[in-house]
Amino acid sequence: MPDLLDKKMIVVTGKGGVGKSTVSIALGMAAAARGKRAIVCEVASQENASRVFRRAEVGFNEVEISPNLWSISIDPDESMREYVLLQLKVKAMRDLLFRSRIFTYLAAATPGLKELVTIGKIWELAQPDRKVKKGREYDLVIVDAPATGHGIGFLQTPRTFAGIARMGPIHSQAQELDRFITDHERTGVAIVSIPEEMPVNESATLEQALRDEVGVSVDRVYMNAMYPERFDDSEAGRLERAARDADGSSGAALRAALSQHHRARSQRAQLDRLRKSARAPVKTLPFIFKPDLKVPEFERLAGALS
Ligand SMILES: Nc1ncnc2c1ncn2[C@@H]1O[C@H](COP(=O)(O)OP(=O)(O)OP(=O)(O)O)[C@@H](O)[C@H]1O
Ligand SMILES: [Mg+2]
Repeated sequence: MPDLLDKKMIVVTGKGGVGKSTVSIALGMAAAARGKRAIVCEVASQENASRVFRRAEVGFNEVEISPNLWSISIDPDESMREYVLLQLKVKAMRDLLFRSRIFTYLAAATPGLKELVTIGKIWELAQPDRKVKKGREYDLVIVDAPATGHGIGFLQTPRTFAGIARMGPIHSQAQELDRFITDHERTGVAIVSIPEEMPVNESATLEQALRDEVGVSVDRVYMNAMYPERFDDSEAGRLERAARDADGSSGAALRAALSQHHRARSQRAQLDRLRKSARAPVKTLPFIFKPDLKVPEFERLAGALS
């Protein structure tokens, strides 16, 4: 199996708040460190990458946020506009379409259309011959995808559209997008989870749905935010005895250390469960004890990913 970072596209998904955006950026940094030209695509106006690198919001522009690492926030309206501009050669027709605000009506009347043009834009970024003016090819496109349930629907959009439009350009373009997403050589999927009961359960269900219903290749599950195991059993025993006898600030410190130790232990149990239920290899990422993750912390995570 080729290395995940050698794919053309990686879709990062998982339950809400587990670290999808964090892992997406760290993957981008890991790829850039290997000399790849990488881009992180945020969907649904998140702007996580520009925050980390202290840039102004990148918006619907490709912005280099650190050497070899680019970022774009994919706005469906802008994607739709760009798509129509590329499709329609007749300027008068384009002007008419934009002025009549037909997109707004079309998008409202067509569930999934926004997702379709978003995926279309992601696909465009991964093309060797970019459609947009001055567009340069990326070696790796990382998609910070919507959370679990939405993530599945999102990836299925092209197939749904290809089924509805039975022929014509929409049919063939939607089919091409679906082929790209389900091409195991080019497109990989990474699921992010955290070491807690429910997220672990959901990851197993998500992996199965992604494989069986969407037909993508799930290459990796990242167990994010793992506490370090600092003490072995005998050390923990000694800590417990010391905590019983100590009071004041040293007692508090000992109890804090013990509570972290118990948390790390229960996390290991969740990791075992995930390893048993997941078919893809499970890799761990450390919890970073900082209130706000910045570039050095992302570099550490990127290192752990490589
Ligand atoms: N390994 C880690 N160590 C410490 N904090 C982390 C780690 N991973 C993520 N976080 C923090 O957890 C929070 C959620 O992470 P993130 O935004 O990446 O999750 P998400 O899955 O993208 O969330 P959403 O579903 O809302 O888009 C952030 O504050 C992030 O800084
Ligand atoms: Mg996010």
